[in-house]
Amino acid sequence: EEQAGLERFNALIAEDSRIEPRDWMPEAYRKTLTRQISQHAHSEIIGMQPEANWITRAPSLKRKAILIAKVQDEAGHGLYLYSAAETLGTPRDVLNEQLLSGKAKYSSIFNYPARSWADMGAIGWLVDGAAIANQVPLCRASYGPYGRAMVRICKEESFHQRQGFEILLELAHGTEAQKTMAQDAINRFYAPSLMMFGPPDTDSPNSQQSMEWKIKRFSNDELRQRFVGMIAEQVKVLGLTLPDPELRFDEEAGQWLHKDLDWDEFKAVIAGNGPCNAQRLERRREAHENGAWVREAAAAYAAKKAQKAQV
Ligand code: 3HC
Repeated sequence: EEQAGLERFNALIAEDSRIEPRDWMPEAYRKTLTRQISQHAHSEIIGMQPEANWITRAPSLKRKAILIAKVQDEAGHGLYLYSAAETLGTPRDVLNEQLLSGKAKYSSIFNYPARSWADMGAIGWLVDGAAIANQVPLCRASYGPYGRAMVRICKEESFHQRQGFEILLELAHGTEAQKTMAQDAINRFYAPSLMMFGPPDTDSPNSQQSMEWKIKRFSNDELRQRFVGMIAEQVKVLGLTLPDPELRFDEEAGQWLHKDLDWDEFKAVIAGNGPCNAQRLERRREAHENGAWVREAAAAYAAKKAQKAQV
């Protein structure tokens, strides 16, 4: 049974097909997908916080409406991804407990503060831009529910990236103070957004297996370089600069080179010691408690409905 299952699994992976929830799969495949998908979901939910702080401070009704729509989208992304993770057998409240207890990771980027309105532009353009660069290949992940969730998420991320770019474009063509605010936001979010792609390939314990199982289609460094190439061109349209004196295209290697990133800072942030880790988890715990009555009411309603159905 196990042998036949493994052969079928390997054949599906080899022919670039999808593994579906009811297919036999190696426990390690199930485990690494539960890890990646649930942490991806946690990132979406925690990622709502930096922007939520600016909804009441948006400079116009238009900007407020767009920001509310974007933050709502992120909640939906979390929902799709928790649902995809649950198809692998771990219930959502267990996944949620892993986040609330500090055991599970979520994207490092959300542990940085959003200090000015221009940060809403830098987050949209750089953070959601990096997410698109990382997530488009995930649309072809070998695990069906994950790849399919990515298709819709990527479509919505491109709206997030465009609205962020437009915020920066307006500021870059505004007063000197606005232009300075936009450049400052880019300066603060550039390196942390490059770290979203994960550690260097030489220090990426999950990559090899994830690439063999066609969960990860390109390496961390490859996607990072691809992303740098995109923003190196886009920043010219803004008339602003990227804070990277070593940024250049290496004709020979055919790839973009960027400055060294601070991997000690990265390790500190994902170990829970970034600028905002404590407040992000505190806020999440508080929101979870405040929402307990909704979960209880929904459960009571469902129980009553089930009882009626039996009568
Ligand atoms: N933040 C936090 N943890 C990170 C990280 C980051 N930026 N990059 C890597 N890590 C963690 C990994 O989770 C792994 O730890 P674990 O084994 O305990 O899970 C460890 O560092 C080593 O990294 P690896 O490269 O070996 O791990 P992966 O093969 O999983 O690659 C990844 C990391 C590229 C982030 C991959 O997990 C991935 O593609 N995940 C899905 C995409 C995702 O999570 N994106 C979040 C972006 S935020 C977002 O999408 C919200 C949007 O609105 C902007």
